[in-house]
Amino acid sequence: MIRAALFDLDGVIVDTAKYHYLAWRRLAAELGFVFTETDNERLKGVSRMRSLDLLLEAGGFPENSFTATQKEELAARKNAWYVEYISRMTPGEILPGVLPFLAGARADGVRTALGSASRNTGIILDRLEIGTLFDTVVDGTMVTRTKPDPEVFLRCAARLGGIPAGECVVFEDAEAGIEAARAAGMRSVGIGTPQRLKQADLVVPGFGGITWQEIKNQLSTKV
Ligand code: G6P
Ligand code: MG
Repeated sequence: MIRAALFDLDGVIVDTAKYHYLAWRRLAAELGFVFTETDNERLKGVSRMRSLDLLLEAGGFPENSFTATQKEELAARKNAWYVEYISRMTPGEILPGVLPFLAGARADGVRTALGSASRNTGIILDRLEIGTLFDTVVDGTMVTRTKPDPEVFLRCAARLGGIPAGECVVFEDAEAGIEAARAAGMRSVGIGTPQRLKQADLVVPGFGGITWQEIKNQLSTKV
């Protein structure tokens, strides 16, 4: 039986990847190189500082080109631009089908949680006006280990009153997130393509036209 549905934020509830990309690209431009959308794929689901390392690698900078303090400054500069972009978001940017899907799960008595690596989760939830749709939120300010470590999802389950991992399902668009769900001993639904999210129990392109009951039925046939 599934008693809790845990949702990633970026790429599942809203497409913030485009804003992350704009901000990283702007930083790359200041550093004198072009950061492509293909390079940006590797940053999805990855923490801010790890993302910076991947960006610098894409720019051809040898590993120790910047001190830790300089890297903190670069990440802060990128984040200031990112916050500027997401502060203009509106509820119209919630991805198609998300709201009815969440409503369906809640109507079925399922507890809902948001588990994100983002330290900007609070701003995004406020802008989208969906904070109250989750019984609990665990974000990047509350965990010490980021996905693929299962900490974020285990914390969600604990904060929901200790729901056993086997009774939780995670919705994720990043491979690292699916890995985190598996490491937590939870079921996982990939949002994207089966080619990319091979480890997920089930993969759907998005929430458009898909109901909570359908997902629940499909997962129950896989136990
Ligand atoms: C999510 C996104 C990543 C982002 C990370 C940290 O996992 O998918 O692209 O780097 O959060 O986000 P933040 O808002 O804290 O920089
Ligand atoms: Mg994501």
